[in-house]
Amino acid sequence: MTATNQTVRDIATENPATVRVFEKYGIEYCCGGNVDEVIASLEAATAPLASEEKNWATESLAYLAAHIVDTHHAYVSHEMPRLNELAGKVVSRHGDTREELPAIQSKLAELGEELIAHQGKEEVVLFPYIGKLERFAAGDGTMPRNCFGSITHPIEMMTRDHDFAGNLMEEIRTLSQDYTPPDGACPTFRAFYEGLREFEQDLHQHIQLENNILFPRAVELEASLSHR
Ligand SMILES: [Fe+2]
Ligand SMILES: [Fe+2]
Repeated sequence: MTATNQTVRDIATENPATVRVFEKYGIEYCCGGNVDEVIASLEAATAPLASEEKNWATESLAYLAAHIVDTHHAYVSHEMPRLNELAGKVVSRHGDTREELPAIQSKLAELGEELIAHQGKEEVVLFPYIGKLERFAAGDGTMPRNCFGSITHPIEMMTRDHDFAGNLMEEIRTLSQDYTPPDGACPTFRAFYEGLREFEQDLHQHIQLENNILFPRAVELEASLSHR
């Protein structure tokens, strides 16, 4: 990023990920402004994310669960309020002419409430239990007790929650025409749709790690221990 002759608005329009940086510095990205002092932050915001090099099939389950909490749960917790706020702005400015916006806003609010409650259950009940199972398997302590019988029961519940959240996300994608802002949309509108697109991407990675790796490995571990 070198073009200091670009206005902040140009940059925000070209690359909606940068809006987060403008918000951080309190820069009005809808109406111009100079960019020098924020170049470094912009570069950080647009740099490709470090590639994931972990092999989650072999890392410990406790480590994988901690990664999910630190990366994906933390992302939901801080990104959802930002998206809800952007939704409020675009609905107040454009909601009367674009009827999909209030619908997206209410689906998004539902998705946020659902995900926060869901990840709370994982963090308080399921993930700690998986950690205890793993410690027991390593010879530490006794078989952990729980109030749900087999681990397959909470996992079925969590998987149903994932389907529910995935469906809401899909409805948002459809309502937003695959996150495509209308021609001439303002930077806030673009930032909102770009934020939704990123949110979907993170949600898919998050659910994939749980459904396809963490949960099947935990079920297998529990089954191997019950035969001891
Ligand atoms: Fe999760
Ligand atoms: Fe989950």
